[in-house]
Amino acid sequence: MSVAKENAAMAALEFVEDGMVLGLGSGSTAEIFIERLGEKVAGGLKVSGIPTSKRTAEVARESGVPLIDIARIDSIDLTVDGADEVDQNFHLIKGGGACLLREKIIAHASKRMVVIVDDRKMVDTLGAFALPVEVDPFGMTLTANQIYAALKATGCEDGVTTLRQTRDGDGPLVTDGGHWILDCRAKSIPDPAATARALAALPGVMEHGLFIDLADVIVIGEIDHARVMEIRRD
Ligand code: A5P
Repeated sequence: MSVAKENAAMAALEFVEDGMVLGLGSGSTAEIFIERLGEKVAGGLKVSGIPTSKRTAEVARESGVPLIDIARIDSIDLTVDGADEVDQNFHLIKGGGACLLREKIIAHASKRMVVIVDDRKMVDTLGAFALPVEVDPFGMTLTANQIYAALKATGCEDGVTTLRQTRDGDGPLVTDGGHWILDCRAKSIPDPAATARALAALPGVMEHGLFIDLADVIVIGEIDHARVMEIRRD
């Protein structure tokens, strides 16, 4: 287990208050957070969790974090989730774990989003990590061409897309929502908000991995401590 990820996850616990409804992120850093949250629950903390993936739901159950049906809540107090890249404006690339659609639904419904990363995820310009875009399988080739055009039109250096496959190599990876993922090699995304708008306008795109103006706090885990950066969104 990465010490930096552990430090980020532990620091994020400071944002959790008794009685909160919590969005529970996906990925290895979020899983450490959920395990540590489970220890707090065992010690008497009362929270309800909304998982961003089937895998996260499993981890929460194993860790003793109570879950609540998303249909039963109006809003979420706080979401704690990982990211694949974070820039200085708190814009994110997410979806390396193929959970971006549910992650964004939950982040968008949250009063506050805390992102937990190790320091290698911090970048000046987004795009070295291939941008995941969740697409409907129907007309996927047309959608891939439109995504390429949208990336290039908004100043990205490249836009070549690759259909993500399962680890076992038995075909396209299917998301929890029943869609496919195109990983888009943008190389650099100079105007993430413009690229996000262009991708969201494409009908075959179910959701894209650019998280714009959603993160309020970035917790950066390092080898011996965690740094907390906050942005005000009033
Ligand atoms: C899941 O779809 C992603 O958005 C994750 O948040 C991201 O891949 C971070 O994962 P790690 O914490 O494992 O690096």
